[in-house]
Amino acid sequence: MSDSESILSSMTETRSFPPPESFAKTARISSLDEYQRLHKQSIDDPEAFWADVAEKNHHWFKKWDKVLDWQCPLAKWFVGGKTNISYNCLDRQIELGRGDHAAILFEGEPGDTRELSYNQLLAEVCRFANALKKLGVKKGDIVTIYMPMVPELTVAMLACARIGAPHSIIFGGFSATAIADRVHDAESRTIITADGGWRRGSIVPLKYNVDEAVKKCPNVENVVVLKRCDNEITWNDGLDRWWSDLVSSESDVCEAEQCDSEDLLFILYTSGTTGKPKGIMHTTGGYMVYTALTSKLIFDFKPDDVYWCSADIGWITGHSYITYGPLQNGVSVVMYEGAPNHPDWGRFWKIVQDRKVTVFYTAPTAVRAFMRQGTEIPARYDMSTLRLLGSVGEPINPEAWMWYHEHIGGSRCPIVDTWWQTETGGIMIAPLPGAFTLKPGSATRPFFGIDAAVTDSTGKEQPANSGGLLVIRKPWPSMLRGIYGDMDRYREQYWSQIENVYFTSDACRRDEDGNFWLMGRVDDVINISGHRIGTAEVESALVSHKSVAEAAVVGIPHEIKGQALAAFVALKLDATASDDLKKELLDHVAKQIGAIAKPDQIRFTDALPKTRSGKIMRRLLKELASTGEVKGDTTTLEDFSVVAKLSESDG
Ligand code: WTA
Repeated sequence: MSDSESILSSMTETRSFPPPESFAKTARISSLDEYQRLHKQSIDDPEAFWADVAEKNHHWFKKWDKVLDWQCPLAKWFVGGKTNISYNCLDRQIELGRGDHAAILFEGEPGDTRELSYNQLLAEVCRFANALKKLGVKKGDIVTIYMPMVPELTVAMLACARIGAPHSIIFGGFSATAIADRVHDAESRTIITADGGWRRGSIVPLKYNVDEAVKKCPNVENVVVLKRCDNEITWNDGLDRWWSDLVSSESDVCEAEQCDSEDLLFILYTSGTTGKPKGIMHTTGGYMVYTALTSKLIFDFKPDDVYWCSADIGWITGHSYITYGPLQNGVSVVMYEGAPNHPDWGRFWKIVQDRKVTVFYTAPTAVRAFMRQGTEIPARYDMSTLRLLGSVGEPINPEAWMWYHEHIGGSRCPIVDTWWQTETGGIMIAPLPGAFTLKPGSATRPFFGIDAAVTDSTGKEQPANSGGLLVIRKPWPSMLRGIYGDMDRYREQYWSQIENVYFTSDACRRDEDGNFWLMGRVDDVINISGHRIGTAEVESALVSHKSVAEAAVVGIPHEIKGQALAAFVALKLDATASDDLKKELLDHVAKQIGAIAKPDQIRFTDALPKTRSGKIMRRLLKELASTGEVKGDTTTLEDFSVVAKLSESDG
């Protein structure tokens, strides 16, 4: 990428929010100077930095011989060290005197609640770990988990970690085919599931989906079934076992396996460009240390925090920031089973009020969905306990940021916009909320030990404010160790685009103050008449118009310009679609970014097609805008009717 083709960035965001004084006063990192000093140390001498953290914050059965062994792209952290992450989440917290403190505050979608202290959680984990052992599950055996968001999901993952059996969690929204593919790829012989789970008042037939998958997986030996919804299920003698029968006679003591720091902790499948899911591998020691420290400093955890991350544990966000990171910090973790709009759009805010949530972490797509419903709904709830908000999963456009800040955070809570990936294991770029001045739309600066840069395609660093590729130049403790069964693909995809640096596939710009502004996936950068434009910026410009709730912008082939933009726009409930409004939106984009970024098509729609993790499926929109129909793979789509409706919307 030469200078002339660098990614055009015209977004100007001038609003800024210094840390509130009262927040900074008690924050774990409370000044930019302190951050800069520590960040420099962590980059200059990462081994000393991480050795110190690992020593102070964690229990090791045996200390490591060497902090890092780096043979690009193969990393080993805390080489020779022996530990157990379940021990660090549970036993260590109890040793620190937090045994009676609430670990999980659960709320089911129908309204049932349960609370488990650290002591109780440990007992449940041990019982289930003993049961798994009795089923023949051994260290190194990959266990597939396909469950609703209930405490037993946390119990299952910690039980696997306790006995050194890596887990492979499949999000409960995935189909039987997706389960079968993943069970095959992982050569998994044990599946843990439930009869069903609650979602928008209906039962998701989890056990049925597993039954269908198992028909194609002859190697599966055990299916453990938790009773959750009491829905009718088919029982396969010889294969199926009730969770409750298995644990009833088990002891609540199970010694934690002394795992090697580089033992596989889990695989998590994520979609790739080829359509074949990639099993991203994470190992024990480095992941443990990194998720604990990022949680502690970015969420600024205090012993009495009530923390709620509204993601599903089936995604990396749930692995790292519902289970492993927060529990290693001894806080209380809220867990909610169901949909944000059941029975109405106030459900999340009622949970914040009832559970007295202090730190809340969600996705921009959720914020925009709430925005669309208006401000009256959150205004009905007392959310004065909140002190910090977080965002993850996509760039948060400044308008959504402002709404979140004002209507959820009462204009008093800092927002940590956290950039990271399944592959990175933990948060890579995010504010330290007591130290940084926030700019809506920027994930701010790299965390300790993270050497992030914006480069051209040869690896040369871009000047301030020129868009380019986001890369990471040094290994970090929670980095992926590979793709399960396909190390060639790992090298090629992540470490070969630019030699010896980690390629994120995200476009980004760094401003003159050193803040990072994410601009979407590189695939979403469109070249119009030689100008490369990040679609995320055009979307952000559209959403900053008062009538727009959500927008997705894609590139389509254009005879003259090479490519042109097509915009799909969902309006706020009180706005009406019209040709005048289309024209107004085009002018608005021209004003915000420039005439070059004006979409050739604007289509109004009720909803945008999304994956179950809330990411807009731009691939489908692109197909629709270029060919007028959708033929491609829609297996990860959340709501099929959306595509049908979109085809009807006029160009
Ligand atoms: C995007 C989710 C901008 C990005 C943890 C990344 C973001 C991909 C942000 C990874 C953010 C995530 N700002 N973009 N704060 N967070 N992304 O693997 O494109 O589901 O590469 O991990 O989401 O998605 P994944």
